[in-house]
Amino acid sequence: MTDTTKTAEPCVMMIFGATGDLTKRKLFPALYNLAKDEHLPESFAVIGIGRQELSTEEFRAETINNLREFIPGEPDDALLKWFEGRTYYTGGDFDDDKKLFKDIKAVADEVRERHDIPANFFYYMAIPPALFAGVAQKIVANNLGKEDGNGNWRRFIFEKPFGHDLESARKLNAELLKILRERQIYRIDHYLGKETVQNLIVFRFGNSIFEPIWNRNYVDHVQITVAEKLGVEGRGGYYDTAGALRDMIPNHIFQLVTLTAMEPPVSFQADAVRDEQTKILNAVKCFTPEEALVNAVRGQYGSGNVDGTELPAYRTEDKVAEGSPTETFAALKLSIDNWRWADVPFYVRTGKRMPTKHSSIVIQFKQAPFILFRDTPVERLTTNRIEIHIQPDEGITLHFGAKIPGPVVKTGAVDMDFNYVDHFGEQVSTGYERLLFDCMIGDATLFQRADMVEASWGIVSPILDVWAAVPPRNFSNYEAGSWGPAEADDLLARDGRKWKNTVHPEDK
Ligand SMILES: NC(=O)c1ccc[n+]([C@@H]2O[C@H](COP(=O)([O-])OP(=O)(O)OC[C@H]3O[C@@H](n4cnc5c(N)ncnc54)[C@H](OP(=O)(O)O)[C@@H]3O)[C@@H](O)[C@H]2O)c1
Repeated sequence: MTDTTKTAEPCVMMIFGATGDLTKRKLFPALYNLAKDEHLPESFAVIGIGRQELSTEEFRAETINNLREFIPGEPDDALLKWFEGRTYYTGGDFDDDKKLFKDIKAVADEVRERHDIPANFFYYMAIPPALFAGVAQKIVANNLGKEDGNGNWRRFIFEKPFGHDLESARKLNAELLKILRERQIYRIDHYLGKETVQNLIVFRFGNSIFEPIWNRNYVDHVQITVAEKLGVEGRGGYYDTAGALRDMIPNHIFQLVTLTAMEPPVSFQADAVRDEQTKILNAVKCFTPEEALVNAVRGQYGSGNVDGTELPAYRTEDKVAEGSPTETFAALKLSIDNWRWADVPFYVRTGKRMPTKHSSIVIQFKQAPFILFRDTPVERLTTNRIEIHIQPDEGITLHFGAKIPGPVVKTGAVDMDFNYVDHFGEQVSTGYERLLFDCMIGDATLFQRADMVEASWGIVSPILDVWAAVPPRNFSNYEAGSWGPAEADDLLARDGRKWKNTVHPEDK
């Protein structure tokens, strides 16, 4: 894993899609934060690439304005100046095989000379996924993508979604692997940039007390929730073609499943960790069509009233098709068929317009035997639970039973909390810093490998097929501001279990 006391390797970063939302809200602020913490070398520059014809001066002015808007706190003027002097722009038609890519090469040569940068090129594909393969092919065809054998590197970050289903993911992998090596390809999932997600590895494998009980002998079940309070927020056009399952489960949620369930890797080398994650994905039981109908639940939000505000139904949101069958909520009951997890269900869910923004992993332990308290008023013991909070507050809670003071033996439930901010102070982060830095030092641990992406799509594809073949008849089936459809509660209730619904204090 990364030594973050280091400085990134000198390189020219080229962002395709530099006029987009991701670049202005996340990538440039993340680069700024990296520079602030002295993780960027002097020999560094960024070339923004877009289809708009902008001059470097115009792009610089826009970038600095955006930085002022999107970085929290007072910006450091000297740092903004440093950035400005290292930011360039080239525009043109991405379909034009020659002109744009010749221009990029010319600017890259000039920038390298000016800032004394070796021929290390870091390409960030912040463009619609349909353009990924074509742009990568043009980069390579114009001699900007192949590594030159002198120790200089060419690395490519591809944004999500990586594929739309198993077939398209396989096709995209095949197209990229025809022109690039796997080690040059970084498939990003920005969830892995979050501290708590990375801390999950340290929590599990850096402490000796958890691992012995992290298995079917002690764990009753696992719940993973990624709940969003917002609706589609102007992204209706994209979302209506994707839906909750595609948008969240093969990427974010499966990353959380694999890091929770994997065996200790033999080392923290990228492939050692990713091998273990892949084994879990391969052990997740794929549903037959009949099982998909029972173990996968979909929902779509209707209108609702939250904090006195009327919220519209999904089907009336901008750019959403009338009568749309797209799900805004998905829940699955997964089985991991291996020795550690046999018969321990992993319930996962994600949805929009939930009561609160909250992502967490809940490890629910089995109940202790009653024997000790047989002749006391204790009727039910508290079951132990470890809740790993991922957002908005990052931290870990251990839930356990304690004796209520007094002459009679009564037990109550108490929580022991560790909160990142209380302990380590506020960390200013977009979630992209670590991932950009890792790419600049060649550490792919937190990026998805081709086989992981395909295994993930392989799990969700049968569900997508069944849902496409059997259109939903009861949409909308949950109110905006609720925890999803009743069927999601039934998914656990029929196993005698309940979702753990954590509401952020602001939303109580
Ligand atoms: N925004 C996020 O927080 C977020 C989160 C996760 C993943 N992503 C992924 O990141 C990528 C970029 O997202 P975004 O939100 O930045 O999208 P966006 O705001 O729509 O920007 C996309 C960029 O691609 C350019 N572009 C679009 N169509 C093009 C075409 N046919 N030829 C050349 N350039 C074209 C746009 O140029 P113009 O300015 O000229 O339109 C813009 O620079 C997408 O793959 C998205 O799925 C974004």
